[in-house]
Amino acid sequence: MQYSKIIGLGHAVPQTIVTNDDLSKILDTSDEWITERTGIKERRFFDPEIEGSLAKMAKKAADMALERAGKTKDDIDFVIFASITPDYFFPGSSVLLQRELEMDTIGCLDIRNACSGFIYSLSVADQFIKTGMYKNIMVVGGEIQSTAIDLTDRGRSTAVIFGDGVGVAILSASEEQGILSTHLHAEGKYAEELYVKDPGSSRTKEERQPEQILDTSGFKVYMNGNMVFKHAVVRFQEVIEEALNQNNLSASDIDMLIPHQANLRISKFIQSKLGLPDENVFNNIQKYGNTTAASIPIALSEAWGEGKIKEGDLVCLAAFGSGFTWGSALIRW
Ligand SMILES: CC(C)(COP(=O)(O)OP(=O)(O)OC[C@H]1O[C@@H](n2cnc3c(N)ncnc32)[C@H](O)[C@@H]1OP(=O)(O)O)[C@@H](O)C(=O)NCCC(=O)NCCS
Repeated sequence: MQYSKIIGLGHAVPQTIVTNDDLSKILDTSDEWITERTGIKERRFFDPEIEGSLAKMAKKAADMALERAGKTKDDIDFVIFASITPDYFFPGSSVLLQRELEMDTIGCLDIRNACSGFIYSLSVADQFIKTGMYKNIMVVGGEIQSTAIDLTDRGRSTAVIFGDGVGVAILSASEEQGILSTHLHAEGKYAEELYVKDPGSSRTKEERQPEQILDTSGFKVYMNGNMVFKHAVVRFQEVIEEALNQNNLSASDIDMLIPHQANLRISKFIQSKLGLPDENVFNNIQKYGNTTAASIPIALSEAWGEGKIKEGDLVCLAAFGSGFTWGSALIRW
């Protein structure tokens, strides 16, 4: 049986650190409120003068992942890029990363499933490898959220949670066990509970091409935080249990749980529901905030780099976000 294995990971985050105290200077908020409600202490904000673009940041993370995997860009057969904040409205960032890496004319695919984007991408890559179509796939999750959030008091509950960054995984065909299964779900009836409306095609021509953008709120992230929270805690647990049941495993078999870094309170809640000790759960939201599709690959790259994931470990990834969409992946490392 053919498996796909993660053989290398890399990540890149912007240089500029924005602390809760920095945000308190421009918004009616406080370090105390943000820490208590989300666990976040600081996040990174993209600066075009320093980082250039999302694709350039992704190149940095990709170079790190390739080096750690012992591969070169010429070994890669396909690129999948999960992002809801690509460099352009179209084309997506996968082709821009392919250009940055000076790759051959390999196929490039963009996935826009927000916080679940990396797990959806991993699942697609896994199917391509299992069918024998590709041997090595670069899977990317990357976001620049900081320029889309509403940094005024009106947007404060959403603005404080998001950050920027990129994570990359190199997936390779293997005879040994790797990704055991992936589980993907969605519930489109909640699409408008966490979304960016503009420049969507649901708008009229005048609204999509306004001479002057009088009401720019449609371009900013809207999130019904309370509702997202309530659904997230249920779906995270459900989709993790689905993965465990499918593989005849139980929560106590998990060596490392990496939940999408949406909110530390959500992670802690899932941890306690599954009865996992602190050392079996990895969180880094304190440093980076919620980086949407980038959060799992950044966390995975850090945990693996710090030696917290070892050969043979059972690793569980789970995410929930806009759509709503959610998913999980169970991996034998
Ligand atoms: C966003 C989130 C942190 C807000 O926390 P919350 O406990 O739900 O807070 P609420 O929105 O109910 O607001 C509570 C109070 O804090 C205030 N508040 C909101 N944002 C604030 C901020 N940044 N600073 C200070 N006060 C704030 C509100 O105005 C409200 O005040 P009121 O009680 O006087 O009306 C929380 O809902 C959340 O994390 N949701 C999930 C988000 C998520 O996971 N998103 C990503 C999915 S991928």
